[in-house]
Amino acid sequence: KNVYAGIDIGGTTVKMALIDEEGTIFDKWEIPTDKRESGKHILRDIAASLHQATGRLHNVHHILGAGVGAPGYIDVENGVIVEAVNLGWKNVAVSAELGEALGVPVFADNDANLAAAGEKWKGAGGDADNLLAVTLGTGVGGGIIAGGEILHGYAGLAGEIGHITVLKEGGAPCNCGKQGCLETVSSATGIARMAKEALNQFDGESELKNIQTANGTIEAKDVFAEAAKGDELASSIVRESMDHLGFTLANLCNSLNPQVVVIGGGVSKAGEQLLEAMRGSFTRFSIPKIAQETEIKIATLGNDAGVIGAAWLAKQKLITPEASR
Ligand code: BGC
Ligand code: NA
Ligand code: ZN
Repeated sequence: KNVYAGIDIGGTTVKMALIDEEGTIFDKWEIPTDKRESGKHILRDIAASLHQATGRLHNVHHILGAGVGAPGYIDVENGVIVEAVNLGWKNVAVSAELGEALGVPVFADNDANLAAAGEKWKGAGGDADNLLAVTLGTGVGGGIIAGGEILHGYAGLAGEIGHITVLKEGGAPCNCGKQGCLETVSSATGIARMAKEALNQFDGESELKNIQTANGTIEAKDVFAEAAKGDELASSIVRESMDHLGFTLANLCNSLNPQVVVIGGGVSKAGEQLLEAMRGSFTRFSIPKIAQETEIKIATLGNDAGVIGAAWLAKQKLITPEASR
């Protein structure tokens, strides 16, 4: 069977899968992300793990090519991770090095761009040619599909939705070097930070306090869970965080007019509760026709969006003649 390797490099694990031309996953697994020395070891680990997997499958699968998603700025022409701020990496030559190790063409793109492509192809996107995807995880990622293609912009940075400024003054510092980015308030890390900061200056009753004492920390999912139970402090954090998300998505929809907005990443497990919390500000800041017509959905592929999108990338590049250099 002909398959594509879909590879999604994340902060803690690299997700890998063998995926056929229809987008069906045949096998998937993960390995830890060795972040040391600017990604020096990771490509070798990925190649070794793929060789092992194809060996294990006794050559039932023939890999035609691979797609790689990574959390940062990607030179898509040359397949290089130019910079991945949350990993501390610079200039990782993915296509050249992994291509050599695997002996097949390897293409790279931003992780959230590929999650958008994955959700379009096999997930909540319903094959919409104009789609916006946002991933709320360690960072906030964005992917814009316009006219059926990933929008890259001049240098490949289009869709860096996480670094849209939502707080002009007094915002928390972001790993990108700015302050007050959406990522600082709507990522899992940002929500947890807001909860910890709020607790520091809070004398009232909140279950979050007990959770912090018991676990030594607070996670975004605790904040959503307690908000769902009616905890005031947790609710105010969810409201603030999702207000910023709704505001940002509204402005993006006003300028890009996607048919569907797909919200994914770990935080999107909050599902309907999340949609409910962002809908008010989304509606308020959208052009009325956009507020009425834009479908906002929770992603359906979960952790598989990135690898499916990566396989989509490889497939698309290999079947489009001008792209297969
Ligand atoms: C990075 C993006 C990435 C996102 C999700 C952000 O901090 O700038 O490139 O897509 O995190 O991983
Ligand atoms: Na992106
Ligand atoms: Zn930023």
